[in-house]
Amino acid sequence: MTKQIATNITWQDGQVDREQREKNLGQKGCTVWLTGLSSSGKTTLAIALEQVLMQRGFLSYRLDGDNIRHGLNMNLGFSAEDREENIRRIGEVTKLFADAAIISITSFISPYQADRDHARKQHESAGIPFLEVYVDVPLEVAEERDPKGLYKKARAGEIKGFTGIDDPYEPPPAPELHLHTDTLTVVQCVQMLLDMLQEHGIISAEYVGSSIEHTNRVG
Ligand code: ADX
Repeated sequence: MTKQIATNITWQDGQVDREQREKNLGQKGCTVWLTGLSSSGKTTLAIALEQVLMQRGFLSYRLDGDNIRHGLNMNLGFSAEDREENIRRIGEVTKLFADAAIISITSFISPYQADRDHARKQHESAGIPFLEVYVDVPLEVAEERDPKGLYKKARAGEIKGFTGIDDPYEPPPAPELHLHTDTLTVVQCVQMLLDMLQEHGIISAEYVGSSIEHTNRVG
């Protein structure tokens, strides 16, 4: 667990709260937390969901593992400690986006249950919805997809500690949504994500029903 190092710091409340921001923006903030193996389809689904939400008038924002590791988390690798810190920071950042009344979508492997639970707790203690989505694909299918050729490298011993090969992935026992991306299309997955957002009171029924214009592949 990360320790507070700074002393002599005081929390400062503003004059504007989340409820007011949500009223002004006409939407509710939340975090949609996508977790799953590399090549399971997290990024594809995050991109598609962001696009559909935008078409329907909602502001959402994507935080993507590979992208964030180019900037904010460029000083982190893939040891257990670094992955924990990666997810801790993203838990904090996505909470800020959700607090700003944005539908924040994260796509990180986030392999450890304890780290995802910690992110959930941070949200719940602030009254912000945290919707965990298990983007599930059999390892064999992820390895077949392998768009970045990383599984191949991991099998050849050129990458050490690769999730699913020689580093663990702990599946979520009780996610808000479980998507099998080896059998569902992107459109079906996005529809299920929209249904989930409706069930949790983030978007209303009128924004869920119409057909989705999107054709990208999963993975
Ligand atoms: S996490 O485990 O800390 O949540 P994150 O989602 O940020 O991982 O980054 C995963 C991405 O980094 C993968 O999609 C892949 O492109 C790349 N990567 C490089 N090395 C590894 C590794 N050892 N294990 C998993 N992914 C890796």
